[in-house]
Amino acid sequence: MTVGIVYYSRTGNTRKAAELLADKIKAKGQSVEFVEIEAVRRPGFLSAGHASQQQKELPIKNEPVDLGKYDFVVFGIPVWAGLPSPMLKSFLTKVPGNPRVPAACFLCGGGKAGKQDRGTTCLKEWVTGKGFVLREPVLVLQMGRGGIRSQSISVDEFLTAVLPR
Ligand SMILES: Cc1cc2nc3c(=O)[nH]c(=O)nc-3n(C[C@H](O)[C@H](O)[C@H](O)COP(=O)(O)O)c2cc1C
Repeated sequence: MTVGIVYYSRTGNTRKAAELLADKIKAKGQSVEFVEIEAVRRPGFLSAGHASQQQKELPIKNEPVDLGKYDFVVFGIPVWAGLPSPMLKSFLTKVPGNPRVPAACFLCGGGKAGKQDRGTTCLKEWVTGKGFVLREPVLVLQMGRGGIRSQSISVDEFLTAVLPR
């Protein structure tokens, strides 16, 4: 089975989490490919927050990619102003629709708090709206300087719940 991990990371936290997930998936004997969403220009804090509140797409460098080639797709995205970064929204416009591929999602917030209910609902809508078969739960990670500060469930529990057997 080949797992595609699609992620955007402005300051490195979501990349770190994507790498952690990849190591654990590889340890289960599966192969992993990363698809990094790359901004044309890294947005500043204020413009990132504003774009997210408005759910405004931001320009990305990625070419169209068919995620239907993967057996399973994981989407990882930071939380901006309570919502998933619209970088993923921009990326999904470049992906052929209705792949019917099973998929799972994780969100990376910052600081202590946060169930990220709005962000989770929005992310689920984007992914199912594009025709992926979403497997739950959505993993919520609150990141700090030293890595994961708190999490909705452990990464191992998350992978056990979502990875196809
Ligand atoms: C514009 C902006 C808004 C943010 N809003 C939130 C928020 O509402 N809730 C939260 O938990 N973290 C928020 N954060 C913090 C990031 O989600 C957090 O630092 C995340 O781990 C960053 O991931 P990255 O390093 O992969 O970019 C915000 C960060 C930015 C840049």
